[in-house]
Amino acid sequence: MSNKVGTIGVLTSGGDAPGMNAAIRAVVRVGLARGIKVMGIQKGYNGLLTGDVRELTARSVSDTVQRGGTILQTARCLEFLKPEGQQRGAEMCRVFGIDGLVVIGGDGSFQGAEKLANLGINTIGVPGTIDLDIACTEYTIGFDTAVNTAMEAINKIRDTSTSHERCSIVEVMGRNAGYIALWCGISSGAELVLIPEKGRPSDEEIIKTILQNKHIGKKNFIIIVAEGIGGSEKLAKKIQEITGIESRATILGHLQRGGSPSAVDRIHASMMGAKAVDLLCEGKAKRVVAYVGGQYVDYDINEALAMTKNIDEYMYEVSNLLV
Ligand code: ADP
Ligand code: F6P
Repeated sequence: MSNKVGTIGVLTSGGDAPGMNAAIRAVVRVGLARGIKVMGIQKGYNGLLTGDVRELTARSVSDTVQRGGTILQTARCLEFLKPEGQQRGAEMCRVFGIDGLVVIGGDGSFQGAEKLANLGINTIGVPGTIDLDIACTEYTIGFDTAVNTAMEAINKIRDTSTSHERCSIVEVMGRNAGYIALWCGISSGAELVLIPEKGRPSDEEIIKTILQNKHIGKKNFIIIVAEGIGGSEKLAKKIQEITGIESRATILGHLQRGGSPSAVDRIHASMMGAKAVDLLCEGKAKRVVAYVGGQYVDYDINEALAMTKNIDEYMYEVSNLLV
């Protein structure tokens, strides 16, 4: 493998996700193993613009593989949306001698990486988001942990829901994507899963489903609502009002973004971080690492950003049959 790269930078951007630390650790240690100096950039593109950059050693990432969050912290950087911000970012890379940059984040972060690549900085994106909503890849770092965290919470909600014979509306994360909701629905045995990809059914349809389930002998009901659908409190009130079934809403919120990453997340994150470094070593730029058909592959960033992803229709159908 030819090694044209002397120094690389790594940053985490957008919403954090469990496993980001394992990805950072892999970038640092594989980078060092390839004879590359690695610089950690704090708080996403913000740190690049403010020069919040420090050298990372193998010891800087000790004891991090099991930690949630991101040791580099993350941020949303509005300045980077503007061409002047992007130019300053590229200049700062030059100031720090960074000739390759690994950006761990979601679609938005990849758009920033694409802009930097156009300004001559070799960039590689690593998919890090609990939402699983990056079209080019079958896996995004953080998804497995987030689903397991939500599933465990739903198990607990189910206990009390059963005791009281209630209907529980549980809202999970996913502003634009229903993957967390769908996986939680199947793994938790929900009566109904509401996801943005399918639109919101009417209250009447939702209530009809609950009454059908009551008719077949069910005594408690779990409805999983993706954040992008929202309105959980209102829905709980309406269900109680119309059916007489006591109903409660729980919004799980940011607890789904934290916690020690699962083995699945640690492994994908480690492999994707390593792949990003090796792509830079191969002289590649403007690429995104992806997991497809059991392999770690890479795509052109623009090609990746243009891809669209649909919810798995069969999974959605099955989620409705498992009641
Ligand atoms: P995610 O990466 O999780 O999708 P965001 O969409 O919030 O999160 O994007 C994270 C950051 O990436 C933004 O705050 C901004 O700094 C940068 N970014 C997003 N979109 C663009 C864009 N079109 N051009 C340049 N930078 C962008
Ligand atoms: O990381 C993705 C995500 O968790 C979305 O599901 C959610 O809508 C969003 O981030 C919330 O982000 P924040 O509260 O940090 O702005």
